[in-house]
Amino acid sequence: MNYNKKTVKDVDVKGKKVLLRCDFNVPLAKDGSGVITDDNRIRAALPTIQYLLEQGAAVIACSHLGKPEPNFEKWAKKQAEKGKDASEEKWQKSLKELRMEPVAARLSELLGKPVVLADDVVGPDATAKAAALKPGEIMLLQNTRFEKGETKGDPELAKKMAGLTGTDGVYVSDAFGAVHRAHASTAIVADYLPAVSGFLIQKELEIIGGALAAPKRPLVAILGGSKVSSKIGVINNLLEIADTIIIGGGMAYTFSAAQGGKVGNSLLEEDWKDYANDMVKKAAEKGVKLLLPVDTVVADNFAADANSQVVKAGEIPDGWEGLDIGPETVKLYCDAVKGAGTVIWNGPMGVFEFPAFAKGTEAVAQALSETSAITIIGGGDSAAAVQQLGYADKMTHISTGGGASLEFMEGKELPGVACLLNK
Ligand code: 3PG
Repeated sequence: MNYNKKTVKDVDVKGKKVLLRCDFNVPLAKDGSGVITDDNRIRAALPTIQYLLEQGAAVIACSHLGKPEPNFEKWAKKQAEKGKDASEEKWQKSLKELRMEPVAARLSELLGKPVVLADDVVGPDATAKAAALKPGEIMLLQNTRFEKGETKGDPELAKKMAGLTGTDGVYVSDAFGAVHRAHASTAIVADYLPAVSGFLIQKELEIIGGALAAPKRPLVAILGGSKVSSKIGVINNLLEIADTIIIGGGMAYTFSAAQGGKVGNSLLEEDWKDYANDMVKKAAEKGVKLLLPVDTVVADNFAADANSQVVKAGEIPDGWEGLDIGPETVKLYCDAVKGAGTVIWNGPMGVFEFPAFAKGTEAVAQALSETSAITIIGGGDSAAAVQQLGYADKMTHISTGGGASLEFMEGKELPGVACLLNK
């Protein structure tokens, strides 16, 4: 796939209307108050927005937020299956909680200027507000997933979105977190407008793409998280590229069990044991160093205040479960990081939400903060861990994409990137 894409600097946007797809899918407080608990994704889009406004463009920004279900029948069916309230009132409430008001307010604060908010995506309100928008002004459409055609990649919806920009509009995508989605606003819209990337996508492609294509060696990949099944693609691709692959988190127990180890009540994917063994074999054949835990912190139940002890990997007593890598493993993994040229990290080493089982993740984060290697943190949980532990500003790059950065590391084509004009 070609990652050398035209950017906002390669097009003239002066006096034009720009449809700007961002990933403003920010976490909201669980109490339904609309409070944004982490505004990094909004901040990450600011350089592109500011640039476009300075160039005299009128910016029509848009994004999805959460996973609203715009089809009442479908929503009601799912609710009923779960034995939950399937009333229309409840559905309306679920949509209301995912309106863009909090995002518009935060964006306006960060930009220090008004952000006009539309009441719909391509309806009369958005159309009128887009038509009235002047150069140097910005508006935000409602949640793109309120439209039934968005996740289906409906060309009619994409065409209508493009139409908001008038006759000489431009499409700019800066929604790196959503480039793995072939949705109307992330990819299909590029069939109707000249399409270029914003600075965020450009940076993500340069740094992650660069590390995968021509890494400063040795390239050490640290992979954690709970399931082998969700990391197969990444492990497979990195076996072709990396010098060392480090396995931590819940998925390490499937590797351990595959080698005949006792894993007690730890997370285990029986069906993936053969695959885990194949990976160990493939790594040996390719001369890739594959590091697995040598010891484990185990708990007598899945709780923050559980009793714990350190045992050798593969010797987890019945009734206990592994929740973190042990101190010997921490040393082994941190030593591997020390000599690296590039480190890519995706997935925590243990249940870092429980302080007693966060030491492995914390030690790896600290090792990354101290190395002179290029350090790239895949989004999602590992990005959250690095931020929560206070090491964010010590990393070369923290990706704003969760699923997107994972698919990028899997070597998959990203529809939201493929649709942009090549240089
Ligand atoms: C993300 O949070 O990873 C992106 O915003 C994509 O969201 P999605 O998984 O709901 O498509």
